[in-house]
Amino acid sequence: MRMRAAVLEEFGQPLVVQELDLAEPKPGEVLVRVVACGVCHTDMYTASGVDPSGYAPTVLGHEGAGVVEAVGEGAGSLAVGDHVVTLFSTQCRECVHCVSPKTNICLAIRDQQGKGYLPDGTTRLSRDGEPIRHFMGTSTFAEYTVMPEIALAKVSPEAPLDRACLFACGLSTGLGAAMFTAKVEAGATCVVFGAGLVGLGAVAGCRLQGAERVVCVDLSEERLEMARHQGATDTLIGGADTVQAILDMTGGFGADYTIEATGNVAVMRQAVESARMGWGLATMCGVAGKGETLDIIPRLLISGRRVAGSSFGGVKGRDQVPLLVQRYLDGDIDVDAFLSHRITLDEVNEGFERMEAQDGIRSVIDFG
Ligand SMILES: NC(=O)c1ccc[n+]([C@@H]2O[C@H](COP(=O)([O-])OP(=O)(O)OC[C@H]3O[C@@H](n4cnc5c(N)ncnc54)[C@H](O)[C@@H]3O)[C@@H](O)[C@H]2O)c1
Ligand SMILES: [Zn+2]
Ligand SMILES: [Zn+2]
Repeated sequence: MRMRAAVLEEFGQPLVVQELDLAEPKPGEVLVRVVACGVCHTDMYTASGVDPSGYAPTVLGHEGAGVVEAVGEGAGSLAVGDHVVTLFSTQCRECVHCVSPKTNICLAIRDQQGKGYLPDGTTRLSRDGEPIRHFMGTSTFAEYTVMPEIALAKVSPEAPLDRACLFACGLSTGLGAAMFTAKVEAGATCVVFGAGLVGLGAVAGCRLQGAERVVCVDLSEERLEMARHQGATDTLIGGADTVQAILDMTGGFGADYTIEATGNVAVMRQAVESARMGWGLATMCGVAGKGETLDIIPRLLISGRRVAGSSFGGVKGRDQVPLLVQRYLDGDIDVDAFLSHRITLDEVNEGFERMEAQDGIRSVIDFG
């Protein structure tokens, strides 16, 4: 079939919206009509050319939600008409990681996915016979996408897809970091660094876990206001004295749980240093720049602090994204607040510009 998609032709250049060919789903794969897709930092990061593992030409986009249009042989867990959220973080339910409750990092298709291919090592996307690679296994800046069944979460048809798509990346990452990686306990004191979609999701996750105190740190007063709306009990403008401010707020001890959602390694260090001695757990969500390292004074660890990393919030996508979407439908999470701008596929580059200017939390492409 022919369809329109936003192609990264050359690093550092705007995406080019054009017609491409999309082949039928092969065994284990599914054709999805994309209805909505968020514009995320990872798309812009790859487009910029800074990401050493990036490739071009490729169709970017990984915060997608849509409707199943056709199901390949053996992809029996989905049916035509199902509403789905795309998963860059797959769940095969069979690999050694999927059967362990300790991680959500599925091993099934990592190598091929990382190189921009579907699991059989080929692409369904092409232009005049030239293969075009699938970014993150999702390529949702497009009217349609073919994806492996193990990379699609079936969600309630009651959830509007322009809100459901936010669960494909940032929102689930933040919620999950609090709920599944840190496993915040009722009554806990938490600090969330960063109030973008990931940090705001983490604030909401801490609240849903019953945290007594949720401190959010950001540089923007406007974003801190959004954090209060999501359940932050205290807010701070970040700076060099943030750790001291948190120690002062917590009787000199620090927080039970700290969650970092900025991507800045200096802030990651603050997240470690503001975790409580004895048991404080610092969870890192941010993606740091190439070659950057996190400095930790080992004594902080010996005295009982722990550090965890969180990919996609520790969320096992097919099992848990539907549950998170249900929490939204139940009224537990205000997702509307995150949808700042609705744009068309042709306006995708403006979505990047808005993100750079920190204009709103998420621009969502509405495919109508
Ligand atoms: N681990 C994962 O699976 C995963 C998934 C999605 C995104 N991410 C990463 O999470 C991070 C956050 O993503 P986002 O979409 O929320 O980004 P965002 O840019 O919208 O939000 C980051 C926030 O951090 C704040 N910030 C910057 N410097 C700060 C400082 N010194 N102190 C306090 N706050 C500061 C900014 O003001 C901003 O509000 C990024 O690094 C992103 O790449 C990771
Ligand atoms: Zn797996
Ligand atoms: Zn993302």
